[in-house]
Amino acid sequence: MVHFAPSILAADFTRLGDDISRVESAGADWLHFDVMDGLFVPSISFGIPVLESVRPKTRLFIDAHLMIEGPERYIETFAKAGADQITIHYEATEDPIGALLQIRECGKKSGIAISPETNPAMIRDMLPYADHVIVMTVKPGFGEQSLIPECVDKLPVLRQYEKEDGLEFNIAVDGGVKLGNAASIIEAGANVLVAGSAVFAGDIEGNTKAFLELMK
Ligand code: DX5
Ligand code: ZN
Repeated sequence: MVHFAPSILAADFTRLGDDISRVESAGADWLHFDVMDGLFVPSISFGIPVLESVRPKTRLFIDAHLMIEGPERYIETFAKAGADQITIHYEATEDPIGALLQIRECGKKSGIAISPETNPAMIRDMLPYADHVIVMTVKPGFGEQSLIPECVDKLPVLRQYEKEDGLEFNIAVDGGVKLGNAASIIEAGANVLVAGSAVFAGDIEGNTKAFLELMK
């Protein structure tokens, strides 16, 4: 099953509810919620109060992508604020498995993200505890960057681990996803596409529908 996850990092925050309604009515099924702490990544984005405001306004499945150092400190808070899935970074914690277990104990889907410099072999042992893997195809911290093509080579490797280890998980590509590269990313093994600037710049409904058409 494929999922399309618009990243609201690229939305207009003065009309966030409207922007979310647009991607939802156009047929997106997930929402990507980028949390940045100014420590794990240089930027600071948004957090709990925004999630609490968004949650009652949408039925979309919300993936909170926590680009924060020591994410275990905040898992319960994000779960209570309404995330459906919480994705932590492998590079941001001493105990990724502990964090993934904590997410599941909160009754939420668990995700693990890897930055461009991280080899998929580093997370193989953690995959049994993850429902979702985010392969970052840009350096985390900013939208509107260009996709690093070498990162896409991690997708078949992760699908191979999935098969060999008898697992099942979603794989998302996050960073620099455009209409022009979406098909090849899916071909390589992703079943979730995250896109920020390619959705929210210009015709939000039209962009969403074009992605969904491509992903069929
Ligand atoms: C980057 C974020 C991405 C970002 C993607 O740190 O994790 O989710 O919003 O934005 P685009 O699609 O513009 O590269
Ligand atoms: Zn993200």
